[in-house]
Amino acid sequence: MTARRILVTSALPYANGPIHIGHLVEYIQTDIWVRFQKLIGNRCVYVCADDTHGTAIMIRARNEGRSEEELIAAMQAAHERDFAGFDIEFDNYGSTNAAENRELCGQFWQALRGAGLIVERDVEQLFDPVAQTFLADRFVRGTCPKCKSPNQPGDNCSACGQTYSPSELIDPQSTLSGATPELRSAKHLFVQLQQLHDFLSEWVENSGALQSETANYLKGHFLSDELRDWDISRPAPYFGFEIPDSPGNYWYVWFDAPIGYIASTAQWCAAHGEQLADWWQSDATEIHHFIGKDITYFHTLFWPGMLKTAGYSLPTKVRIHGFLNVGGQKMSKSIGTLITAEKYLEHLDPSYLRYFYATKLTPRVEDLDLGIDEFADKVNSDLVGKVVNLASRTAKFAHALGLSETYPDDGGLFANAAAAGERIAAAYEACDYSRAMRLIMELADAANPFIEHAQPWVLKKDPAREAELRDVCTIGLNLFRQLCVYLSPVLPRLAERCGELLGDPITRWAQSQQPLTGRSVQKFTHMLTRVKPEDLQKMIDENRDQAAASQADTPDAGTAEDRWNDSGQPLADEPLAEEITIDDFAKVDLRIARVVAAEQVPEARKLLKLTLSLGGEERRQVFAGIKAAYEPDQLVGRLVVMVANLKPRQMKFGLSEGMVAAAGPGGPDVFVITVDEGAQPGQRVH
Ligand code: MSP
Ligand code: ZN
Repeated sequence: MTARRILVTSALPYANGPIHIGHLVEYIQTDIWVRFQKLIGNRCVYVCADDTHGTAIMIRARNEGRSEEELIAAMQAAHERDFAGFDIEFDNYGSTNAAENRELCGQFWQALRGAGLIVERDVEQLFDPVAQTFLADRFVRGTCPKCKSPNQPGDNCSACGQTYSPSELIDPQSTLSGATPELRSAKHLFVQLQQLHDFLSEWVENSGALQSETANYLKGHFLSDELRDWDISRPAPYFGFEIPDSPGNYWYVWFDAPIGYIASTAQWCAAHGEQLADWWQSDATEIHHFIGKDITYFHTLFWPGMLKTAGYSLPTKVRIHGFLNVGGQKMSKSIGTLITAEKYLEHLDPSYLRYFYATKLTPRVEDLDLGIDEFADKVNSDLVGKVVNLASRTAKFAHALGLSETYPDDGGLFANAAAAGERIAAAYEACDYSRAMRLIMELADAANPFIEHAQPWVLKKDPAREAELRDVCTIGLNLFRQLCVYLSPVLPRLAERCGELLGDPITRWAQSQQPLTGRSVQKFTHMLTRVKPEDLQKMIDENRDQAAASQADTPDAGTAEDRWNDSGQPLADEPLAEEITIDDFAKVDLRIARVVAAEQVPEARKLLKLTLSLGGEERRQVFAGIKAAYEPDQLVGRLVVMVANLKPRQMKFGLSEGMVAAAGPGGPDVFVITVDEGAQPGQRVH
């Protein structure tokens, strides 16, 4: 079989934030695939870069009082450090702000112009007169023109679902400066994607580059209609590349970002004496993009259209993964589950996460969940209990004796596991790591009883059985090494330790097919320790406390986008209730109340006992299920909203005379509705 030539990319992480464990799903997934390709002897080059352009970076640099270049250099250093910490190895890590990228963008632009795909149109857009910049939809908030709900985002209303343009908002406000934006007209450049409709339909349908669920989604949502023109420019001020033949206008970040894949490859080529055309304009090279589901559209419609027009190779595969949840929920700063790569590495071994993700990843576009117990259980029972166990129970004896001269009879264990290599390799190739890990653990399950039964620690006690002991250890260590070869794309550090132990570095898949014999064994050193679920919980707690602290210090920290990146999930999880009349609403008597006392109910798992004042002498006792979210002291003195005419309920701990209004799914994620000071206890809420 001749070696394949394969170019692999991961999405370019935005330079406006740190790498977190959600991103790592993708970079670990890609790194495993690349390491696997290299291990089986294919020529594989893995490139990535920081995605540096756009309004968010410009605003942030401005807020932090430094240049964009300084900001992106610092972010890039942090990103590269984090990736290295997780053993993610790029062949080249570039930047979309690089000279190579500017040059390539110019080339693509010429091609699009030449093909007659670019048109100019005036666009009316809101402009912030204080921040002196045009405002993307997400930087504008205002009152919904349809249902009049206040504080709605610039593109659609979260209360009634109406879509609109930001200029239709009533009383719009810039989230950058709070100023009232003005409507200004500016020239924008558009790509007429519809002209590529036939090509894109054909490519989506027949290229085999897309998972079938993705192809169906594109056919159903976009290709069944005319493709809309794509607004590809932004007027100054903008941090990006100025369009050479349209001064004062800049390429929109999503134009230059994917071209960054090619620019990063160009840097690698220059450093290694290679021709860019061999990698991006040759049928002999496969191109594989790994991306998350949120950026499907850019990679499966715009990008192929751009590549086609500019005469570059189309992707062989766009491999799309789902999103990471933690404990069944979207990652969240306030509950501490938005864990940065840096924070993780302070507490835990990166190998754990690599293995855990591997057990979860499939070729399908599915979300995956990180649960604390499952994480600890997988690592401890599989890696420590089944794999490393084989070495830790044999290596110390083998250190004294060396490996047997010929490989002993092991009842077919090694041969059997060697034969499984093809199936494991096929699973890696298909990005079905979950299956690959299952197959490997089946082999570990078969190997462990052998050691259990042979009891090397008993043989050791009888000098007459030394040859037998050597044979048992030779088998145990070879089965261990075989697993390490199979696991090496996922666990490069473990493979390295194994290579050191047996004086034979793991570099090729074929090493799984031949046992090692007649050599010495180094002293056994620790390979992987057990995870303590407490460590994980500690990391989450620390993370939550830090997020809370930093929010308290700097209420204005972060860009507007960070502050208001509201998800549609809550509303999707709980759609609006059936319509009611104003009279129905009036039946519920909501009142302002002040929390005058709050105490723990030691016997109750979830409840705090609150004493509410409705003003004067009126007091109500309420049991509220908010124990996991609040300390009693935090609540005393607050104005809250209570359901005052709710029928009292006898509970185990006393009478509950109403309810306190709160939002959120429960547990630590509950938010008591607090009322601005000035309202008076006893007042009705209308
Ligand atoms: N800059 C763009 C990509 C440009 S590619 C030419 C971008 N950057 S990102 O930093 O937001 O995301 C980088 C990658 O990480 C994306 O593929 C994204 O889908 C992925 N993920 C970000 N958060 C994630 C999870 N919570 N879970 C899984 N993947 C996630 O998009
Ligand atoms: Zn509305």
